[in-house]
Amino acid sequence: MSRQDLSVCLVIPTYNEAGNIEALLARLTELDQNLRILVVDDESPDGTADLVRSCARENPRIHLSSGPKAGLGAGYKRGMLLASGDLEADVLIQMDADFSHDPADVPRLIELIHEGADVAIGSRHVKGGQLDEKWGLVRRLLTYGGNFLIRLTAGIQGVQDCTSGFRAIRSSMLKKVDVENLPVDGYAFQVALLDGLLQQGAKVVELPIYFRDRVAGETKLRLSDLIEFFVYALVLGFSRGRGALPKFLVTGGTGTVVNVLAFQGMICLEVNKYLASLAALEISILWNFCINDMWTFRHTQPSAGWLKRNLRFHLASVTVVATSFGIFVLLVHLFPQWPLWLAQLLAILPAVPLSYYFSSRWVFRR
Ligand code: GDD
Ligand code: MN
Repeated sequence: MSRQDLSVCLVIPTYNEAGNIEALLARLTELDQNLRILVVDDESPDGTADLVRSCARENPRIHLSSGPKAGLGAGYKRGMLLASGDLEADVLIQMDADFSHDPADVPRLIELIHEGADVAIGSRHVKGGQLDEKWGLVRRLLTYGGNFLIRLTAGIQGVQDCTSGFRAIRSSMLKKVDVENLPVDGYAFQVALLDGLLQQGAKVVELPIYFRDRVAGETKLRLSDLIEFFVYALVLGFSRGRGALPKFLVTGGTGTVVNVLAFQGMICLEVNKYLASLAALEISILWNFCINDMWTFRHTQPSAGWLKRNLRFHLASVTVVATSFGIFVLLVHLFPQWPLWLAQLLAILPAVPLSYYFSSRWVFRR
C-alpha cells in the first residue's frame, strides 16, 4: 500500500482537558491534511466535549465519542473500536491531550509504520528519549518501577517503554487482539494492549521522544490506577507461570508467617524486643532461602554453591530492605503532608519485584 493510501486516525482520550484540546486540535490539523482525529471524552465536567464539537463543525476530520467516565483504558477501548471499525482507519495513533506528546513526533511514528513496523512507540526510556526535568522523584520512580515490574512479570523483552501512551498501531494487527475484553480499564490498559500485540507477534519499534510535563490542568492518574496496574502485573506473572514467580511469592508469604510466629515466640520467652525483631528477620530470611533453594528454583541448577547462594540471598535481602527503607525516608522527607502508611506502602511496593529480580538473576542463576 502506498503512503497516501494508509488512512491514519489519532485517538485522543480526554478528561477535563478544556485548557489544552483546542490548541492541540489546531496543531494536529495543520500538521497533515489527511489525518483524522477522534477525541474520546468521558463527559468531562469542564466542557471539553463542547469545545471539540465546535471544532468538529468546522473540520469534518475531527470526531467525538462521548461516554461515561470509566477510566483511561475503558475510553481507549471505546475509541479504538470506533476508529478501526466505523472510521476504517489503517493506522491508529494513541496520544495524550496535554501536549506531553509533541505533535511534531506524529509523522515520525507514521513513518515507522510505513517502514514495516506494526507498532511504533514514542519512548521515554530508550537512548535519546527523556522525561521532563520537572518530573518529581515519585513520578520517576513510578514510571521506571512500573516498566521494570511489567517487563519482569509479562516477560517482555526488547521494549523499554511499555507504559507509554504515545503509539502508532497498525489496524490489521490491532484487530487480532481482543481489545474490548482486556481485563483492565485504567492506565494499566497501556501495558495490557502492548502485551496483547506482542502475543500476536507484532513487530515493535521505539522512537525516542521528549516527554514534556503538562502545562494546563493536572494528571488524572489515581491510586486506584496504580493498584490495578500492580495487581494486573502480578496476575500476569501467575497466569503465565513466568519462571518461578508464583512459587517465589508463596514462599515470601510463608516467610512472613514464620517471621511473626518466631517473633511472638521469642517475646513470650521474654527476649528483648529489638533482639527478637532482628532474630525473627534472620530466621525468615533463612527460611525463605531454604524453601526457594529446595523448591522455587529447584530446577534451575544454580551455578553458585550452597554457601555462596545463601550469602548472596542475605545480601540481596538486606539490599531490598535498605532500598525500601531509603524510599520511605525520602518520601517522608519530601512529602511530610502525606499519611505515613502511604509512604510505607509506596516504599515496599518495589520489594517483591526487586527481590525476585535478585533471586532469579543472581542468587539462583543457572
Ligand atoms: N476519556 C478519558 N477517560 N480520558 C482520560 C481518563 C479517563 O478516565 N483519564 C485520563 N485521560 C486522558 C487525559 O485527559 C490525557 O489526555 C491522557 O488521558 C493522559 O492522562 P494524564 O493524566 O495526562 O496522564 P499522565 O501524564 O499522568 O500519564 C502519562 O504517562 C503514563 C505512563 O507514565 C500518559 O501518557 C499515560 O498514558 C501513561 O501510561
Ligand atoms: Mn499527562
